[in-house]
Amino acid sequence: MPILIERPALASRRKAMRVRDCAAFFMEFLSNPAGIGAVVPSSRNLARKMIEWIDWTQVRAVVECGAGTGVFTGYILDHMKPNTRFFAIELNASMAGVFSEHYPTVTLYQGSVTNVRRLCDREGIESVDVIISGLPWASFARPDQEQCLEALASVFSPQGSFATFAYLHGLYLAAGRRFGRMLSTHFEKVERSTISWHNLPPAVVYRCWRSSGG
Ligand SMILES: C[S@@+](CC[C@H](N)C(=O)[O-])C[C@H]1O[C@@H](n2cnc3c(N)ncnc32)[C@H](O)[C@@H]1O
Repeated sequence: MPILIERPALASRRKAMRVRDCAAFFMEFLSNPAGIGAVVPSSRNLARKMIEWIDWTQVRAVVECGAGTGVFTGYILDHMKPNTRFFAIELNASMAGVFSEHYPTVTLYQGSVTNVRRLCDREGIESVDVIISGLPWASFARPDQEQCLEALASVFSPQGSFATFAYLHGLYLAAGRRFGRMLSTHFEKVERSTISWHNLPPAVVYRCWRSSGG
């Protein structure tokens, strides 16, 4: 049976890709620790916590930001409906290159999320129902946190939902605590998930709703 022969090959190819992604990620972290904010890509366990709380039946447009090598992307593609609009934004050129190798059919803009309004206009998207963010908020200075969050908040639909994560240790840093407070000013309801201990480092997901009816 061909499938029995192919399965181990597919598994080892996936493992090789994961090792290569980790190596690429780590090299980018070394050259820009604050901009990348993590030593390796997020775990699949964290990816599930980011994606699975959202009611995907209602989502017309989704944007992924700080997409990195695309750990969350596969889960977004698996959950979104065929007519849902989707594009991703990633600032780092090397990460964007790896992402596009993995997802050649997904529209990826290499640039900052501060341009999200312009990118939505370019895509003909008036408002966004879901934003999945991998941005390293706790390593951003206050002006970067404010600019990025305000830019994202400006494109949400009234019933929009926002998923982002924080490393456990980051919750206790001044920048991490400040970001938590900022979320409460932009969203009516903010919850924190249980800890993803499988992630390196362990992390929690912030689940945020623009309107508390969400
Ligand atoms: C912690 S990594 C997360 C990557 C991926 N989402 C994951 O979970 O593995 C943060 C990513 O955000 C990107 N990034 C940082 N600032 C950004 C910005 N202003 N606009 C877009 N992407 C940004 C970094 O280049 C990096 O790839």
